[in-house]
Amino acid sequence: MGSTEIKPNIHWVGAIDWAVRDFHGYITPRGTTYNNYLILDEHPTLVDTVKHDFAGYTIENIRSLIDPAKIENIVINHIENDHMSGLDRIMELAPKATIYITDRGKKGLDRFFDTSRWKFQIVKTGHTLKTGKRTITFLETPMLHWPDSMMSYVAEDKLLISQDAFGQHIASTTRFDDEYCDQHSVSELEHAVRDYYANILMPFGQLIKAKLAEVRKLGLEIDMIAPDHGIIWRRDPGKILRMYEDMANDKADLRVVIIYDTMWHSTEHMTIPLMEGVRAGGVDVEVLKLRSTPMSMAIKRLWESRAFLVGTPTLNNIMFPSVAEFLQHLRGLRPKNRLTGAFGSFGWGGGAVKEAYAVLKQMGLDVVEPGVEVVYRPGAEDEKRCFEFGKQFAEKVIEYHRKFDGDSGGRCAP
Ligand code: FEO
Repeated sequence: MGSTEIKPNIHWVGAIDWAVRDFHGYITPRGTTYNNYLILDEHPTLVDTVKHDFAGYTIENIRSLIDPAKIENIVINHIENDHMSGLDRIMELAPKATIYITDRGKKGLDRFFDTSRWKFQIVKTGHTLKTGKRTITFLETPMLHWPDSMMSYVAEDKLLISQDAFGQHIASTTRFDDEYCDQHSVSELEHAVRDYYANILMPFGQLIKAKLAEVRKLGLEIDMIAPDHGIIWRRDPGKILRMYEDMANDKADLRVVIIYDTMWHSTEHMTIPLMEGVRAGGVDVEVLKLRSTPMSMAIKRLWESRAFLVGTPTLNNIMFPSVAEFLQHLRGLRPKNRLTGAFGSFGWGGGAVKEAYAVLKQMGLDVVEPGVEVVYRPGAEDEKRCFEFGKQFAEKVIEYHRKFDGDSGGRCAP
């Protein structure tokens, strides 16, 4: 693919992964890139490395610009495998380089490699690295999204190299937002941002808010944000910052997502009058069957919406396995400020809906209960109960939504 100059003498030397469709369990229909940046200055500096399998591409890109042995500094902004597992290949070619990394990053790195022959400089927020004409300032961002995470700011170029934050899983031959949006739609890029945020960053909303406020307080001039995945923001970097602020502030659309699975179609049948009831209550609604929907897609739609209902049949007195798995995954993502409820069918003793409510409450979510339960097969009376529950739920969602978005539609994109 070759390198791309993103600023005078600062080059993208990353790799494009067109084939990846499962990124540690989350689907990546657009593939991804592993971005890293080579600063050609008096002291050549590489910011981030690459996934091990793709090291050859980065090395080739570096070689097209400079002998890798001349690299004097390597910055590791965080040690997740997709950006760091190729470090040993780079260090073979640049053995004299000093690695700039946080203390926690160094401790983690020691678990992956024999680092005894490598030189390190441990850095904290405010520490700097002079590369010649430029100064890189480090900004720790712990738990955004790894404990050792940090960002690198190049003041002379008004460039923020932001590691995973502000990234998206998009494989593309274009590097910049303006180029990408000339060839695709703006909304495709925004969807990729939200996919990423919902599936990776959702648990860290409070930290993101605080970190964005800190960045604003520092008054950093930023005219380009270069993340570790996907498209680089140069047309309007303020846009992605505003998007993140909205997402971290739990903006959501006024919508109910009905997420369910079914054994013999009874729980599935219930979704129809529930959906009609929600519509009659004045709220947009979407229905997702779990075994037909990749989990990361369901997570994104749920997170973009103010409310959701969980439908589960009872199997052996507990939730249906796909529903239990989904809620378990969701629990780890720590959603907040969403109104929820549950429904389902059973044949013998029941138990799944009760269990679903217990898990929703354990997550700290606000619930509307009791939900609706049906024995064996929904009849006409059951359909009415489902419709009424859906309608009342929608009315409560409208009230609930006002707390966050006033009377607006509450869209989370600018
Ligand atoms: Fe793209 Fe946290 O690694």
